[in-house]
Amino acid sequence: MTQTLPETTTTLDVKTAMETRRSIRRFVQEPMDQADLREILRLTSLAPSANNVQTWRFAVVQNKDLQARLQEASYNQQQVTNAPAVIVLYSDMEDVLANVREIFHPGMGEEQINQRAANFAKGFESQSVQERAAWANAQANIALGYLLLAARGLGYDTVPMLGFEPAKVREILGLPAHAEIAAIVPVGKRAEEGFEHHRHNLDRIAKFY
Ligand SMILES: Cc1cc2nc3c(=O)[nH]c(=O)nc-3n(C[C@H](O)[C@H](O)[C@H](O)COP(=O)(O)O)c2cc1C
Repeated sequence: MTQTLPETTTTLDVKTAMETRRSIRRFVQEPMDQADLREILRLTSLAPSANNVQTWRFAVVQNKDLQARLQEASYNQQQVTNAPAVIVLYSDMEDVLANVREIFHPGMGEEQINQRAANFAKGFESQSVQERAAWANAQANIALGYLLLAARGLGYDTVPMLGFEPAKVREILGLPAHAEIAAIVPVGKRAEEGFEHHRHNLDRIAKFY
């Protein structure tokens, strides 16, 4: 049974956004509204993260030549060029550590910020760049969930993708070698229905104590 979907781009409530989000791989061929695109990213950036570390960064591609190269690096998945915009969501823990004071709330005051920043940086000193990149990627995945729902909430559709060669994508976009890519996310308005949710029954996955 096909689910009836809201036709306007008015903001959806959270429940409706969750229930109508589904992976879409064919999009209406029109450019993204740039204000909406920025709003999707702003809402995504409201995601929580450990220590408010905000490891996520966005590379936003709206250029068919670049999209074609990204598609080639994504096992030729057609949605990469079919979408009007592609958001590459990655984390950059080395950037976080180079600017560590900015993650702390200004309300804490200088002294506390300095102390917390020093402790935070010290905690990662013993880790390799790869280890802390993996930790940063876990934070970026929280933002990925926000991104998919923020887009749907504003009337857009997405498909999160992990099927790509990270080194090639980094090279195409000029991202640093330590950048961990959480997902490539084509975004636009749906031009196909996609598949209804196929999910485990709650009793299969939840225990109540
Ligand atoms: C981390 C992640 C990676 C994914 N990678 C791909 C991908 O490379 N290509 C693709 O077509 N779909 C990809 N998907 C989409 C999943 O197949 C899809 O989310 C899942 O089948 C559930 O369907 P739904 O999103 O329509 O609810 C990915 C989804 C997630 C969350």
